Amino acid sequence: MKMKIDGVPYRTIWPDDNGRCVHIIDQTRLPHGLVTVKLETADDAARAISDMLVRGAPLIGATAAYGIALAMRNDPSDASLDTARDALFATRPTAVNLRWALDALVAELRPLRESGRAVAAWRKSAEICDEDVAICEAIGEHGLPLIRAIHEEKKDAVNILTHCNAGWLATVDWGTALAPIYKAFDAGIPVHVWVDETRPRNQGAALTAWELGRHGVPHTVIVDNAGGHLMQQGRVDMAITGTDRTTANGDVCNKIGTYLKALAARDNGVPFYVALPSPTVDWTLASGADVPIEERDGAEVSTVAGRDSCGAATRVRITPDGSPVSNPAFDVTPARLVTALVTERGIAPATPEGLAGLFPELARAA
Ligand code: MRU
Repeated sequence: MKMKIDGVPYRTIWPDDNGRCVHIIDQTRLPHGLVTVKLETADDAARAISDMLVRGAPLIGATAAYGIALAMRNDPSDASLDTARDALFATRPTAVNLRWALDALVAELRPLRESGRAVAAWRKSAEICDEDVAICEAIGEHGLPLIRAIHEEKKDAVNILTHCNAGWLATVDWGTALAPIYKAFDAGIPVHVWVDETRPRNQGAALTAWELGRHGVPHTVIVDNAGGHLMQQGRVDMAITGTDRTTANGDVCNKIGTYLKALAARDNGVPFYVALPSPTVDWTLASGADVPIEERDGAEVSTVAGRDSCGAATRVRITPDGSPVSNPAFDVTPARLVTALVTERGIAPATPEGLAGLFPELARAA
């Protein structure tokens, strides 16, 4: 286990020792409070995903897996499996890891006798979590040389821009986009991260800044509109983001605003990388145009959450009463704007051949 908070090793999700419930870090409380929450039913898991106590594509998948395991503890029937699967699937539409994890659990459990399902579901969920940790660490290893190469040429700190939170909080451990940064930092390469605040939910300002700070990685939070300006000034050496769903042609769906950063990166000759585990590839979709884009509550746009001068959590309105708002949560960056994809099996061009070359068995199976 890699990530530590005040010296204590943490994952973002872990089962109780008695195997009857699952613990998560409530990410809606960060960065102002480290609060853990117990999930005891599939409905608890579904609510944790839809209310974004847990978020980030890989962690959504891991939580859904444990949601099925919790359902099987309470009632291992076919009907219970189907109900839990449907409730969990309905939570968030964009991150394809959700479908991937649910399909894996259902395929494992359906052929089994009811009496064996709970134990099998618990074991499979743990496997999915362990696999995610290994995948993310491998993404870090494969991304590290990109940062090292810039440092060796520049002989100075490498300035890396990232969007949203694709760190360990978005996965089980390590993260995707932040894994190469942690690897570089731990290897003694000087890095500095420009952290997009990532309105409307501010996953950058709240979560990325928090986890980088806890690990001691130098970083600066910027407003979402600052990235283009910093690139024009030569103050960004590379950009790296995560993704919620990458289609078979290499189009990248990620948090709203990612596309604008990719455009600015292209205009300024800044390499734009996307880090992804293989469960984030949707081999069934030929292009990003077909990815369902989540539309979230307008209150995320018309209000902001924070801490007041007395330290109390509060939410304040920033738009006029009555002004309509719109809140698409993700966008699609066309493959042509992506310098390369960083995966657990190595780096590939964002093309159908690039992806299929690294994962031939997955491409063939689709
Ligand atoms: O809405 P969120 O916070 O779940 O969105 C998360 C992102 O967009 C991440 O960048 C993405 O899941 C990749 S994380 C490994």
